[in-house]
Amino acid sequence: MGVETERTVLLRQLKDYLVFLRDQGMDRVPLTQALETRPPAPNPAPVRPPGGEPTDGERRPAPAPIPSPEPVSATTETMNQTDASSRLIEVRNELGDCTRCKLSATRQNIVFGSGNPNAKLLFIGEGPGADEDAQGLPFVGRAGKKLTEIIEKGMHLNREQDTYICNIVKCRPPGNRDPEAEEIDACKPFLIEQVRAIRPKVIVALGKPSASTLLGRTVAITKERGTWHEFDGIPLMLTFHPAYLLRFYTLENRRAVMEDMQKVLEVLKP
Ligand code: URA
Repeated sequence: MGVETERTVLLRQLKDYLVFLRDQGMDRVPLTQALETRPPAPNPAPVRPPGGEPTDGERRPAPAPIPSPEPVSATTETMNQTDASSRLIEVRNELGDCTRCKLSATRQNIVFGSGNPNAKLLFIGEGPGADEDAQGLPFVGRAGKKLTEIIEKGMHLNREQDTYICNIVKCRPPGNRDPEAEEIDACKPFLIEQVRAIRPKVIVALGKPSASTLLGRTVAITKERGTWHEFDGIPLMLTFHPAYLLRFYTLENRRAVMEDMQKVLEVLKP
């Protein structure tokens, strides 16, 4: 990759950020504050490890908050909803134009996540593929269509309103290979912070790399799918990746995923 000028880097960061805001349901960015004219910090702020102390880098003044398009009444519910959304924006800002692992050299776009920050159901996949890398959004290719079908036709939920979807790594592994341990390690603090921002009622791990990352051990997905676990105190269901379903399109596999999703729906019941 050629050397990027400061301008190219800023433009890329701005584009990533606008894609992220669009994905959070914002169709405009109201400008109600004076523009920040100081030059940006040379490096993105580091992410605090879970439970760790703030670092010096994090003590920099926080970026200007995004103004709400309309005043919201300050009920506990709306405050929690705003909290989830603004915390996700903070996490995205902390990720910045990430170069923490070698996937940054080959990616086109960071794929942070999409859906409702207040969703009760969080799907965690493996990593962006070519379509996701091109669009900056998770699960928009063939596997994504299968996942949408599972959510909408199988579970009778709405993908955008009822779920949030992200991956264990935010950049595409070249050739769609499995993410490597150091790539997963570099990205995991951001995944943990996403989970903590959203606090879903249920997490679904899609496929072996996701399940293994979340459980911190090698998972035999064909044996362990359909079983309940926990991630950060949240019930975690393991199931097949939708790409596996596309590859091994048997009645047995489709039934298995639907059984797993029925278990999820039971726990989601109000
Ligand atoms: N497969 C994944 O694991 N994630 C995506 O976003 C797309 C395909």
